[in-house]
Amino acid sequence: MNPSLKKQITSYVLVLICGLLLFGCKDVNQTSEKIVLEESIKIEKYRPQFHFTPKEKWMNDPNGLVYNNGTYHLFYQYYPDSTVWGPMHWGHAKSKDLLTWKHRPIALYPDSLGYIFSGSAVIDNENTAGFGKDAMVAIYTYHDPVKEKAGQIDYQTQGIAYSLDDGETWTKYKGNPVISNPGIRDFRDPKVSWYEEKEAWQMVLVAKDEVQFYESKDLKAWEKISTFRFDDKPPLGVWECPDLFQLKVEGTEEEKWVLIVSHGGNSLPNGGSGTRYFVGDYDGTTFTTDQKESQWIDYGTDNYAGVTYNNEPNGKRIFIGWMSNWNYATTTPTEKWRSAMTLPRELQLIKIDNKYLVKSKLVDGFEAITEDISKEDLEGNFPTQFQYTDLQQSIIAFNAKINNKLQIQFSNSEGDTYSLGYEKAIGKFYTNRTNSGNVNFNENFAKSSYQTMPIGIYNNMKVTIILDASSIEIFINDGEYVMTNQIFPNSNFTKFEVLKENDSKIDNLNIRKVATIL
Ligand code: FRU
Repeated sequence: MNPSLKKQITSYVLVLICGLLLFGCKDVNQTSEKIVLEESIKIEKYRPQFHFTPKEKWMNDPNGLVYNNGTYHLFYQYYPDSTVWGPMHWGHAKSKDLLTWKHRPIALYPDSLGYIFSGSAVIDNENTAGFGKDAMVAIYTYHDPVKEKAGQIDYQTQGIAYSLDDGETWTKYKGNPVISNPGIRDFRDPKVSWYEEKEAWQMVLVAKDEVQFYESKDLKAWEKISTFRFDDKPPLGVWECPDLFQLKVEGTEEEKWVLIVSHGGNSLPNGGSGTRYFVGDYDGTTFTTDQKESQWIDYGTDNYAGVTYNNEPNGKRIFIGWMSNWNYATTTPTEKWRSAMTLPRELQLIKIDNKYLVKSKLVDGFEAITEDISKEDLEGNFPTQFQYTDLQQSIIAFNAKINNKLQIQFSNSEGDTYSLGYEKAIGKFYTNRTNSGNVNFNENFAKSSYQTMPIGIYNNMKVTIILDASSIEIFINDGEYVMTNQIFPNSNFTKFEVLKENDSKIDNLNIRKVATIL
């Protein structure tokens, strides 16, 4: 048995024994009470078991994604006093494998310049800023609520802070802000990385409806070098959380640059907030693209504000997004905490029919925390139903040879259903969470029940579905197209069904249990 699964089962047995002790005896012993409390987080309704969640209270965007000395750091927008958004801090967690996380103390607190909004982190190996060799430097947005309330528009500026102990404790730079507000209301979310050819730090920053590029030798003095705009008709909602990086087209020597931007309002084709990308060229100053229309990192409603790791040791582009949507994020039916991150995904660039596509592939290493439940060969055998004790913590993969329609459904004993499928005639993949349980906590959630993604004509496809308590992530062909959804079923899904409308052939169905790694 996989060691982490063994550990998980042992801990469940411990909880059970401690539970019996607690409820069965009058003399409750302190130690068992503590174990029960620590374990209780794992049995909270809707608490993901292998996605990152804050122990308690509100979380939104991933921030400061940086790898240093064997550790991946995940900072995040955090409000420790409530389960709804408020004065922003940077929460902090660390991981060796991007899957198992250790919670760390809050890294950055609001100060007299404002709340600490989203941003990035770099490792200053050459001590360019003078904070110390190998200092971890965070570059973030200050959002000044006092100025905002006073009706001024220049309330967002950029600040920096540094840590000399691997992100445990932080000192804010005395010369903050390092970039003042030029009179633009939305001016935020700096992503900084090292640009080798110019031996300089470069920053992408959103300013209303454009991305601005800045450069600096020391992380303190910044000069604006260019601007990127895209002619959206009609305009999309507010521009947020940009990122810029280079990728090689898979299987070739062709190098391209990818610019990511998240958009609020009702920008995503399926409603609410979404993240799009542009593939183009960058000459060290200016980004250009021939792309004519928006392409989205994820077509599901629940992957927002995602950015990628700096300094990833294997040269991979690892992306993490916030698994929610501003259209209903503050009202999701969880009690002690709100929101989770997506599973980390490796972004890869491919070219299909002369079109560039950014693929989101599940990170290597995920298999290690899974264990087979069943393998079935379904070819030519419909309709088919499989009953399991629990599918809410599993990865389900199959190949489909598409005739006309693919129709799959998950359900539970309460009659809740979540379905997904593909209609070849119109080249659309869809998900349907209309009857998936609690959908009425917010009318915007209910409105986005049926979601589609235009993937074009496929004769064969590999479908990978990852279910974790209140989330479902669907990867087509290892991430050529992705849909991420939150769901709140009344009880765990136990049935996997190939519906009778289906006329495609499905084989190699493999269902694996995923370990609890909170
Ligand atoms: C994106 C965002 C960012 C901002 C942060 C505030 O979700 O709106 O633009 O920095 O959240 O929490």
